[in-house]
Amino acid sequence: MAKVKTTFFCQSCGNQFAKWQGQCTACKAWNTIVEEVIEKPEKSDWKSPTSTVKRASVPLRINEIDTSKEARLDTFDAEFNRVLGGGIVPGSLTLLGGEPGIGKSTLLLQISLKLPYKTLYVSGEESQKQIKMRAERINPNNSNCYILTETKTQNIFKQIEALEPDIVIIDSIQTLHSDYIESSSGSISQIKECTTELIKFAKETATPVLLIGHITKDGNIAGPKILEHMVDTVLQFEGDRNHVFRILRAHKNRFGSTNELGIYEMQGSGLREVSNPSEILISRKDEELSGNAVAATLEGMRPLMIEVQALVSTAVYGTPQRSATGFNAKRLNMLLAVLEKRAGFRLGAKDVFLNITGGITVDDPAIDLAVVASILSSNEDVALQKDFCFAAEVGLSGEIRPVQRVEQRILEAEKLGFSTIFVSKYNKISLKNTVIKIQLISKIEDLVRFVV
Ligand code: TYD
Ligand code: MG
Repeated sequence: MAKVKTTFFCQSCGNQFAKWQGQCTACKAWNTIVEEVIEKPEKSDWKSPTSTVKRASVPLRINEIDTSKEARLDTFDAEFNRVLGGGIVPGSLTLLGGEPGIGKSTLLLQISLKLPYKTLYVSGEESQKQIKMRAERINPNNSNCYILTETKTQNIFKQIEALEPDIVIIDSIQTLHSDYIESSSGSISQIKECTTELIKFAKETATPVLLIGHITKDGNIAGPKILEHMVDTVLQFEGDRNHVFRILRAHKNRFGSTNELGIYEMQGSGLREVSNPSEILISRKDEELSGNAVAATLEGMRPLMIEVQALVSTAVYGTPQRSATGFNAKRLNMLLAVLEKRAGFRLGAKDVFLNITGGITVDDPAIDLAVVASILSSNEDVALQKDFCFAAEVGLSGEIRPVQRVEQRILEAEKLGFSTIFVSKYNKISLKNTVIKIQLISKIEDLVRFVV
């Protein structure tokens, strides 16, 4: 094989070194020195039959650029299409990240089994048999999906040339390695090199490539940050592993908005698309229980009704406990302080536990009012009327603040049969003929009057 020249660069100051070292002697940063290819033989990686003819790009007037040919590939998965902005763009690179066991392989295998196009699923993690066993549970009869277990990019490209797939899926980018780099798979330089080769292949053949990426302990996609810059779309698959819901969202999307959201439910036969998530997230028990309140939140652009549960009890030990699942604990403390100071509730000596049901994490401030209502309800041990719901932010002086897209929340609550929604008096609402009662409140004391 032809010789490849590599050298070591500091990723922080760009200084060049002959060999690897722990600390950059120029900028004194630790662990920033990475091996990079500076010269490699032609014909090294993916080379399309036409790439010998160099096409130079010429400037075009913006209104002369033809966009009509930009057809998207339908993935036959409504949630996936929505998050991508209407399907896969030919020649694009999409990176799907998520915690281990969250269902990344399941999602992409399931999509490749649904597609009527010729798909190549390259796995560096599982054997062909293992994948077949999984596929049989999801959708046993598809003859257009090819499975390849390979980790060397040069071999993958050889198979691609022979098979000519319409779409390529790589599980996962961290398992790939290229012959041109010495370091082991998963290292920064390997990931960068393999991605570069895949990008070249995707752009030259207009074949979309979907990559699975591992994430690190702190939730970032493992590998260089530059990986996220290189690809066109970064999707994140999240949700609590012990719960059934999975949320797919776009962190970056060159071809659509990053506000959309896809929701799935993990079942024995793969992931099921959840087209009306609110119905599953709220329990609708017959009896009314104290400490439960429903919030009309927005996840991206989608309205989502979420149940908040609070448990307030007298502290057994000296220091009261405060714990929140799916909600920011600092924000919980702030809301408790507001309740204490502005509404005169003595919560200082009580344990407060808060839980967002369904295992999801909410950072929409519109959930505040439901949190406060559930705490009040549990503290007084009085159940809220079960067809009440809430959508407002609570400020430090106990004022009820307006939230964005309130009309969309009201309509969702009405659709699901709620009788009353509590929103801020300062929200501008121009809805007419609503069946649902829109209760406008301006201070936390108003809420106290209504709920306890
Ligand atoms: P997997 O796709 O292997 O996760 P990842 O690739 O993100 O690491 O999915 C893992 C989990 O999904 C696994 O723990 C089992 C579960 N699962 C189901 O519950 N039902 C199914 O039909 C499949 C295929 C997986
Ligand atoms: Mg996997």
